[in-house]
Amino acid sequence: MRPTRISFQDGGPMAIMGDLRLDLGDGEQIETRATVCLCGKSGNRPFWDLACREN
Ligand code: FES
Repeated sequence: MRPTRISFQDGGPMAIMGDLRLDLGDGEQIETRATVCLCGKSGNRPFWDLACREN
């Protein structure tokens, strides 16, 4: 099992790496990484979609 690592980008997303189990309400997904939107602008929430980098 890999340790979970979380990193933040200023004004951007939160990157999570490790042995992840994501429960998005339609069943559990197993992933090794996820990039989560923290700005609320993503059209694919909870995931990041670069909306925070558009002007
Ligand atoms: S943090 Fe980048 S789209 Fe929300």
